[in-house]
Amino acid sequence: MSAENEFSSLFATESEVGSVAGGVTLPAWQVLLVDDEPMMHTVLHFAMQDMVVEGRRLALSDASSSTEAQAALLRQPDIALILLDVVMETTDAGLRFVEYVRQILHNRKVRIVLLTGQPAYALERDVIANYEIDDYRVKSELTSDKLFTCLYSTLRTYQALHDLELKLPIEKLAMELQTANQQLTIEIADRTRAQALAGEQMHTLKEVNKRLEEAQYQLLQSEKMASIGLLASGVAHEINNPIGYVSSNLGTLESYSKGFLDIIEAYEAGADTDPQTRLARINALKESLDFNYAKGDVVALVQETTDGLNRVKSIVQSLKDFSRIETADTWAMEDVTKGIESTLSVVWNELKYKCEVRREFGEIPPVECVLSHLNQVFLNMLINAAHAIVEHGTVTIRTGCAHERVWIEIADTGKGIVPEHLTHIFDPFFTTKPVGKGTGLGLSISYGIIKKHHGEIEVESQPGHGTVFRIWLPIRQPASEEGMIPAP
Ligand SMILES: Nc1ncnc2c1ncn2[C@@H]1O[C@H](COP(=O)(O)OP(=O)(O)O)[C@@H](O)[C@H]1O
Ligand SMILES: [Mg+2]
Repeated sequence: MSAENEFSSLFATESEVGSVAGGVTLPAWQVLLVDDEPMMHTVLHFAMQDMVVEGRRLALSDASSSTEAQAALLRQPDIALILLDVVMETTDAGLRFVEYVRQILHNRKVRIVLLTGQPAYALERDVIANYEIDDYRVKSELTSDKLFTCLYSTLRTYQALHDLELKLPIEKLAMELQTANQQLTIEIADRTRAQALAGEQMHTLKEVNKRLEEAQYQLLQSEKMASIGLLASGVAHEINNPIGYVSSNLGTLESYSKGFLDIIEAYEAGADTDPQTRLARINALKESLDFNYAKGDVVALVQETTDGLNRVKSIVQSLKDFSRIETADTWAMEDVTKGIESTLSVVWNELKYKCEVRREFGEIPPVECVLSHLNQVFLNMLINAAHAIVEHGTVTIRTGCAHERVWIEIADTGKGIVPEHLTHIFDPFFTTKPVGKGTGLGLSISYGIIKKHHGEIEVESQPGHGTVFRIWLPIRQPASEEGMIPAP
């Protein structure tokens, strides 16, 4: 059967083929004709040349084998419809080509209509069921109308698929956006919750911090009270001594003065008597009052009393210097050596029975500090040194200056600190002393004070031989610290 015969019906009726879209040139439908019969191409070209589907013309291309068809499809991926012969190189070349398109190229979009001249080779039901094709036509039964209907329905399907393909990424994007949005909402909620939690924690932390500060203040007060208690007894003792002899001297001076007044009275009373008798009486009185001795003793007693009162005055002054009660706790350029001296006189009673105190003071410049706070450190270290000395020993205080820093060393020949204690001595409440003698706060407070001064404390100890505490202080405080009051 020739192609002309096969398609004779195509020429029979020529019905309306659709209309060209008014004014707008839409791209033509790409249609591939695959057939090994050249006549088929001629006939189909002829039948379809004026057809318009959905306002678009048809652009036909040709392949005469499935191999050529593969090449055409690769060249022109926007082919919308393939009119495909079944029997070409082989009896099922067309069907293999469908497999190739759908399974190898994964092209599910292109529409395929099988045109067969020999239905025996490809039974319609089998083919429709097993291959992804749109239509199956026996060439001899094809009319122009049927072809048009077939083109119309397949090209529409193609267009629908195409639109869907375009829409899909947008929908996918919208979906992704929605998911991202939801995720974001969750994250924002999480973050808000976390922030609220952080706020609560911050509040708790502030509370804890405030309570800690209060506790620290209490501790400081208790340590101060403890050292005041200790010092009070020492100072009382120091003051008692001179007060004792001042008051006894005053007693002696009082009786001397009475005698002297008696003698003066004797002079005045005997004005009308015989000078010899008067002199004898006065001499007897002088004798009885031990006038000659008293005369010499008065000067010595007044001197001694003055010295005693000066001693009391200097103790009071040292106490004032030590505690700096008359000045505010502010940074100032101070003489640290003077601070050590006033501290020494305050703790003298604690030291004097047990230790010889050696001063090896170097030349040091004024240091920017709060001296009363540093004195508290010296005080604690000196008392610790005295406590460490069991029978009798030496406490050596050295000072010096190196690299813009001043150092103060307080060394004792006491019992020393065992290595396992050395790492704890700055801990609050660490004490090896019996209750009543140690609070365990002295060194921790000292550490805090030196830290506020941007300094350091070093300690070296040899159990059984003694301990050295070395304090390093910068001569000037960092600029930002000026005017700040460091709480000890
Ligand atoms: N110079 C020293 N020699 C020996 N041990 C010392 C010396 N200074 C401090 N320590 C040890 O460090 C501990 C803590 O000292 P400190 O904080 O001043 O508290 P406290 O003197 O109240 O015990 C002391 O109990 C003592 O064991
Ligand atoms: Mg102490």
